[in-house]
Amino acid sequence: MPEGFSRPGVFQVAVDGPSGAGKSTVARALASRLSIEYIDTGAMYRAVAFKLMESGLDAADGPLVGRMLDGTSMDFAEGRVILDGRDVSGLIRTAEVSGMASLCSALPQVRERLVPLQRAMGSRKSVVMDGRDIGSNVFPDARFKFFLTASAEERARRRQAELAGRGENLSFEAVLADIGSRDYNDSHRALNPLVRAADAAEIDSTAMTAREVVDLMLGMVRAGLCDPR
Ligand code: DC
Repeated sequence: MPEGFSRPGVFQVAVDGPSGAGKSTVARALASRLSIEYIDTGAMYRAVAFKLMESGLDAADGPLVGRMLDGTSMDFAEGRVILDGRDVSGLIRTAEVSGMASLCSALPQVRERLVPLQRAMGSRKSVVMDGRDIGSNVFPDARFKFFLTASAEERARRRQAELAGRGENLSFEAVLADIGSRDYNDSHRALNPLVRAADAAEIDSTAMTAREVVDLMLGMVRAGLCDPR
């Protein structure tokens, strides 16, 4: 099957948006309520960042990073990230890995390897896939596209609480500054920047609970699934 072509009956739900908008929480819940698979593409960029940090390679050297990836295996089984046979799920959520993931996700050598993998995963079976460029680049023909936002302050509050829950205590100002620099990097990189696809439904979750966002998305997906396109 050529890359990007889906099996009959297979559909994709793209969930894009800036860091900390709550994409993974709602995308995971939406996938579970639709009984389809959830794919967290940010975890793939994080796994690359983690390997780079562990190996001490120069993250700015794109060709070297590309060669490292050619010798890397990545599996996503039941919500876990398996890097070279090792479960790194619990190790890729630190602030340090976030910063490195934002940098290395701008490298063409990284994107040209991860994007085809994402297209293959989302073409075999129906998926909810979250990231930055899913509706605009990975699956421009996704059946459903959402662009989830929230104010930078609210995203920083959520991120600070999430980090604190894992024992990483950062000041609100530090988290807000990190969100600001990731927003800038993600939306200003040359290749596949964070952008709302013209046909994506934008949801501002600043004053919404995750449950409310999921219910809203689910209503739109169910209505669309009944439409015989
Ligand atoms: O969603 P996240 O914070 O786990 O993503 C980690 C980094 O990966 C983030 O800085 C942006 C990048 N990313 C990307 O460039 N494209 C994607 N489809 C998903 C994430």
